[in-house]
Amino acid sequence: LQTPLVDSFGRVHTSLRISVTDRCNIRCFYCMPLENIRFKPRDELLTFEEIVRVVRIAALRGVRKLRLTGGEPLVRSNLSELIRMLREINGIDEVALTTNGILFAEQAEQLKQSGLNRVNISLDSINEAVFEQITRRKGVDRVLAGITAAQEVGFDEIRLNAVAIRNLTEGEIVPLANFARENDLHLRFIEFMPLDADKAWKTDQVLSGRELRAIISREIAPLREADRSDPSQPATDFVYADGKQQIGFINSVTEPFCNSCNRLRMTAEGQLRNCLFSTTEWDARQLLRDGGSDEDLSKLLSACVKAKKASHGIDSPEFVPPERAMYQIGG
Ligand code: GTP
Ligand code: 5AD
Ligand code: SF4
Repeated sequence: LQTPLVDSFGRVHTSLRISVTDRCNIRCFYCMPLENIRFKPRDELLTFEEIVRVVRIAALRGVRKLRLTGGEPLVRSNLSELIRMLREINGIDEVALTTNGILFAEQAEQLKQSGLNRVNISLDSINEAVFEQITRRKGVDRVLAGITAAQEVGFDEIRLNAVAIRNLTEGEIVPLANFARENDLHLRFIEFMPLDADKAWKTDQVLSGRELRAIISREIAPLREADRSDPSQPATDFVYADGKQQIGFINSVTEPFCNSCNRLRMTAEGQLRNCLFSTTEWDARQLLRDGGSDEDLSKLLSACVKAKKASHGIDSPEFVPPERAMYQIGG
């Protein structure tokens, strides 16, 4: 092992989130614009070989966990092949996927066979009308089929991610939580962050984890905080008093977890980022394509980590949202 990726606050970076495409088959308003989207041309995206090279170098610096994101990662062709390649890299213990689930059912078997370890599926509502209001596409049935398929091929610890938005998803909270309990799924509510393409995010749209917890305790069953197994996990988990399932809250806005952050990110075009909210990127693609050495790439990782700020500062008056929206960064 070479020098670990420790930033100036002592945080050790062992997790790399890799976006494999900026394209998506739905259009969630908190992530993408509806129209006039300029997706990156294919030749600007890193090839699988280029991704593997970066990961090999990152693994030498202590990265152990990978998560594939997008856009929607399953729209990238042959994703299973990439997963197979990543699973073979020395030092990589886990390859996970965050998907909207629409294409999951048709790829479930081959994803399982590729060695994919875990899957998180995004679902904000089980009601088609509300789903459509958020995603501006139809598709609840396909997502539900994706979840079933994931269970059938034997993925365990499947997590559901639900973004909560004030004046929009209040009515979805209890049905979604009950659905997760009935189907033995670990649901996590995520606070809406200022990463929408339209830059329309407002503080008062954030439905906080605290409020959600109050609703669920009242309407379903009391909640007690679970033991924290992994401090770098973004969710605070709770157990229902009747012992049936856990539920998590990712309170990125009201209770930032930046001080235990262990994550680095790479966009689909090979730009390294030290935070969802970084305003600077480090260009791995240029090194990859202009004959950069492994050492050059390793130094780029060091520079990216070294510049990491203490926290995102969303509640600071000086906060400026990143230039790029969620779909361009990777979830
Ligand atoms: P697990 O390994 O299952 O815990 O996955 P994860 O929660 O790390 O990954 P996932 O992609 O499911 O993340 C869920 C959501 O948490 C993301 O969509 C983001 O909204 C939020 N999130 C993930 N990483 C970060 C981060 O580094 N900072 C902030 N502020 N939010 C994050
Ligand atoms: N705020 C919070 N979560 C978001 N996601 C996308 N955009 C936002 C946002 N602005 C979530 C998706 C998915 C994951 C990839 O990121 O719902 O679960
Ligand atoms: Fe697509 Fe994911 Fe953004 Fe929704 S959150 S539009 S699924 S990239």
